[in-house]
Amino acid sequence: MIKKYVYGTPIPTDAVVQTIEPAEGPVQYLSELEMDGKILFHYVMEKDDIVYGLGEAMGGINKRGRVYRSFCSDVPDQTEDKESLYGCHNFLLISGMIQVGFFVDCASEVTFDVGYTSPNMLNIKPGCGDFVLYIIEGKSAADIVKQFREMIGRSYIAPRWAFGFQQSRWSYRDEDEIRDVVRHYRDSGIPLDAVYMDIDYMDGYKDFTISQERFPDFPAFVQEMKAQGIRLVPIIDAGVKIEPGYEIYEEGKQYQFFCKGSDGSDFVAGVWPGRTHFPDFLNSQVRMWFGSKYKVLTDCGVEGFWNDMNEPAMFFTEDGIREAKEYVQSFDFATNDPGQFFQLKDKLTGLSNRQKDYESFFHNMDGVIVRHDRVHNLYGSYMTRSASDALQQLLPGKRFLLFSRASYIGSHRNGGLWTGDNQSWWSHLLLNLKMMPSLNMCGYLYSGADLGGFGCNCSRELLLRWLGLGIFTPLMRNHAAIGTRRQECYRFGDTEDFKNLISIRYSLIPYLYSEYMKACLHSEMLFRPLAFDYPSDDFARTVEDQLLLGESIMITPIYEQNAKGRYVYLPEDMLLVVFRSSSVRRYQVMKKGLHYVSAAMNEVPLFIRKNKLLPLCRTSQCTEEMDTSMFEVIAFADRGFEYSLYEDDGTTTAYDSEKNYVRFAIQETEGALAAASDKTIVKLTLY
Ligand code: GLC
Repeated sequence: MIKKYVYGTPIPTDAVVQTIEPAEGPVQYLSELEMDGKILFHYVMEKDDIVYGLGEAMGGINKRGRVYRSFCSDVPDQTEDKESLYGCHNFLLISGMIQVGFFVDCASEVTFDVGYTSPNMLNIKPGCGDFVLYIIEGKSAADIVKQFREMIGRSYIAPRWAFGFQQSRWSYRDEDEIRDVVRHYRDSGIPLDAVYMDIDYMDGYKDFTISQERFPDFPAFVQEMKAQGIRLVPIIDAGVKIEPGYEIYEEGKQYQFFCKGSDGSDFVAGVWPGRTHFPDFLNSQVRMWFGSKYKVLTDCGVEGFWNDMNEPAMFFTEDGIREAKEYVQSFDFATNDPGQFFQLKDKLTGLSNRQKDYESFFHNMDGVIVRHDRVHNLYGSYMTRSASDALQQLLPGKRFLLFSRASYIGSHRNGGLWTGDNQSWWSHLLLNLKMMPSLNMCGYLYSGADLGGFGCNCSRELLLRWLGLGIFTPLMRNHAAIGTRRQECYRFGDTEDFKNLISIRYSLIPYLYSEYMKACLHSEMLFRPLAFDYPSDDFARTVEDQLLLGESIMITPIYEQNAKGRYVYLPEDMLLVVFRSSSVRRYQVMKKGLHYVSAAMNEVPLFIRKNKLLPLCRTSQCTEEMDTSMFEVIAFADRGFEYSLYEDDGTTTAYDSEKNYVRFAIQETEGALAAASDKTIVKLTLY
């Protein structure tokens, strides 16, 4: 049951696809207070209520105890105290004696104080008086999420090749460097499906250009890579370089397609290419125009893109630099006041992404002029929409890979996301795990973090352990920043452990893909906190570092340095499988309760739930070489049951057919259990 309440005159956000009539009468569950034209909502939480949601955000699976500021932000240093990240996903739900969900559909900033100022008080403060509030009642947390997901529409569906392992690094300069990466992977037998092209492939960081000097025959290079089972995935940034003669700049200027400053001139900000203009993605014509430019790359055979810097990130503006200069000039050395120095320092470090700059430019939303800060959170989301609309035309009937850094609910229908510039920190491995179910609640199923961490130097152990989580996330990409230690899997000495770990991913792909597709098609979550499936288990409700993944398994990644294993809570009896490679494993049935599970640095533990099975295919070097005619089945069973594996061609959009389900069964005949399927089962391991 969903109730809708409209405040003021909201700007359409494209988040909701269902038609819901506004409710009569006062808002239920929340008390509201009006202050200076803004509304403040309160909810009194019970001591044991869990608050789920908020998608991409810091903090735990349970969001209590922090403030979250929904304002798409470029956060190169994701320290513990950050209140905003790149995406804004204003859905949260209370799970306790009362179960209720809230979605604040608001294009500008919203603050959620979830028991921070006062432990039992949830305060929601939209930054303006124009928004829509949705209140969702349901019988369980899972039920509320499902209703919410149906309301916001089906999640973007990635091609199957995007479930392969992907390598990225900001600094791959030319064809030879990419060839070298691929050669190392293939020579060491570590599976790989894609290599990313960061801004260095462009000519002067200009969108939709390819450096002729460094990629002399790009279409041929794309084909050369494809012949080795490798897709190239170029980046597209939001900012368009100001350079006379550059087609995109000239056209944008001519057709008035860029965001405007208050004096009506094209707004200027400094990003990677230097001085840039921002395409006005909130305008439908601009979306069509910018989207059509992806053709430059699809014509070369490219089938995947990542959209970046679309909060939009601004390193500086001319106003900011001018103010800072004035400040420096007025700095009086003689006062000998350290306070003045710190103000100066803040002035300089605060040059990027200034609130004041976000308040100084304007959009033309199909005839309506709106100041940027009022619609800030939509910018990246509409860039994704521009790309997705265009790619559907450019690659008819075919799936494409598309994900973005900035996002707002609605963009989950058009693409996935990656969680931006994390660091090679153990805490960010754990953060990656905690974000997955929250992202799923908000519709982002094709998602993942930079494995190994983007900033800072990564150790062999951290990368191995991070891959121990990454082998389960739909987007499995190792990405690192320029200037950091080289982080490709073959850079850490002996490659055997990496080969073995990533080979596990490839044998899991049929299951992962199946569960991902079912979650997309039926508005379910791929990753779930334990409490979603075991709501009356009080201990399960507190678990923050284990996740249920699809129907059959629970994952328990190791996220601490020098750990020899970890404590795991089992809400029921389960079968532990510790993988050393796709084929080397050890098994142990474990009873409900707390256990210590040993797993060396090169091992990954997972658990199979009671009367569930896990189908595994033979590992391969890339998804194109996957053979899904034969399976090995691991089952934990004391009776007969069935599992239905979703399988399709992985490339077209024909995913709604009933024919896409393959039956696997554990059957009881004459007191014995055996496996059956239309697929060939080469081996059954049954406990
Ligand atoms: C941003 C992106 C990062 C990328 C870099 C250079 O920091 O988040 O992934 O590598 O820009 O393009």
